[in-house]
Amino acid sequence: MSFFPYMEPREIISLGEGWTPLVKFSDNLYFKMDHLNPTGSFKDRGSTVLVSALHKSLKKAKGYISEDSSGNAGASIAAYAARAGLKTKIYVPKFISGQKFNQTLFYGAEVVKVSGSRNKVTEVAQRPENGKFYVGHVLHPLFRDGIRTLAYELAEQFNWKLPERIYLPVSAGTLLLGLISGLVHLKDSDIIETVPKIIACQTRQVSPLYHRLKRLKYTAPENVTSVADALVSVNPPLLDLMVRKLKEVDGDAVMVEENEIIDAFRSLAKNGFLVEPSSAVAYAGYKKQLQSGKTSVDARTVIVLTGMGLKTLLEPYAKVQNRKEEKGAFSS
Ligand SMILES: Cc1ncc(COP(=O)(O)O)c(C=O)c1O
Repeated sequence: MSFFPYMEPREIISLGEGWTPLVKFSDNLYFKMDHLNPTGSFKDRGSTVLVSALHKSLKKAKGYISEDSSGNAGASIAAYAARAGLKTKIYVPKFISGQKFNQTLFYGAEVVKVSGSRNKVTEVAQRPENGKFYVGHVLHPLFRDGIRTLAYELAEQFNWKLPERIYLPVSAGTLLLGLISGLVHLKDSDIIETVPKIIACQTRQVSPLYHRLKRLKYTAPENVTSVADALVSVNPPLLDLMVRKLKEVDGDAVMVEENEIIDAFRSLAKNGFLVEPSSAVAYAGYKKQLQSGKTSVDARTVIVLTGMGLKTLLEPYAKVQNRKEEKGAFSS
């Protein structure tokens, strides 16, 4: 609690987030099961902090929360706002997964589907309306500040000796920036000796960070059609910060192809780990670096599993099949 001094202990809005299991998958490979958070994604770490810090003043102002999201953050903020007794209006892309859409509605949010790019969704969410308080999770610093807890938990679960490498999927950068912030805090406090090598994993379609880090030109696709449907930030507003922070901790980035994501997704599921394809991107990135020799099975590694597979599989299974049929994506 003392790490979040702007939160009043009595005001905390919790659904029991955090302390997700750490599972040893093989000799040196661990999975951090953040898809097991209350709303099925790591976003709950940010939502609890954001809503806990703001709900009292929002209520006093008779306001409601406006948030834009590709799906998981909107569902998460809707849940925590519901717990706090606050209204929410969640703006989402038109092609949001059916599960995430339904989940957000069940929490009682008003959900507004917006046509166009992810940035267009943000723009509409920010339009002033009576009583609206825009607290978009990408731009609001308290949301990503909540992600610091992931670093503290990992350190404690590894008995203060973190593994050499951490792989995670990256889109808008809140997970990456929050994790780095927590790890740097631990290092500056002499609790850990070094910050592990952080590897930001991105899809070919949505890889602005990878391209910038490798000094390559990135051209965003007109439409994002990747199976990793939570990773859609082709032009993330925090890109400069992401690049700077990743460089400061000597991190790396890897880009994966659609077939590699699907292989990784299948391989995880066949071992009992049902996660969103967007989470499988991190496992795909790890496997790719194993193949290229950038890492080895001897390196102690943790992969952050970020989103619950049930959100993606049910209705969108058909959608994914249609969308990717030409590449034979889901034929078994
Ligand atoms: C399941 C999942 N994994 C990873 C990410 C990437 O997180 P960020 O946008 O903070 O980079 C998201 C973001 O929506 C997500 O929903």
